[in-house]
Amino acid sequence: MALREILVWPDPRLKQKAKPVGEVTAEIRKLCDDLAETMYEANGVGLAAPQVGVLFNLISMDVEQKAAEGEAPKKKGEGLFWLIDPVLKVAEGEFTYTEGCLSIPDEYEEVTRFGHIVVEYTDRDGKRKQREAASTLLSVCVQHEMDHLQGKLFVDHLSALKRELIRRRMKKLKTQREAERKGEATAL
Ligand code: NI
Repeated sequence: MALREILVWPDPRLKQKAKPVGEVTAEIRKLCDDLAETMYEANGVGLAAPQVGVLFNLISMDVEQKAAEGEAPKKKGEGLFWLIDPVLKVAEGEFTYTEGCLSIPDEYEEVTRFGHIVVEYTDRDGKRKQREAASTLLSVCVQHEMDHLQGKLFVDHLSALKRELIRRRMKKLKTQREAERKGEATAL
């Protein structure tokens, strides 16, 4: 397994549409493992391949590490699964949740999405499966990550004004990170 670099918005690569995976090869399984490792390292519950610059319809997810109401959180890895070539078979109702994104660090905003979903996908073992979720972190996360496969981010659900404010903060953050990187290189 290897850590991949998570792209920070705005980045033109995050706006591109991903391609179907089809057959799950050893190379794809390696990408599954890298995505999971990168997601856990960043304390995320979901990560889509385009966020590490790979334009495949592939998502790593583990929402069970966050405690659901009245339940204890599970250990990282226990709820891990992958969605390859996901398709929403059912999408109805509404649910509003405060979302964040590993490609937009430290920004959280309310987004309204479908409440009840059924998603069909290929798992890491190459089998076609289905999951159902209603008004939970899982239903939100599946839709958020599937947006990434279409080159869409949660800020695209916000007003132009809010999006512009976040864009400015992200540009500043990227400039700071770049300066730190250069500084470290000089210090060596
Ligand atoms: Ni995201």
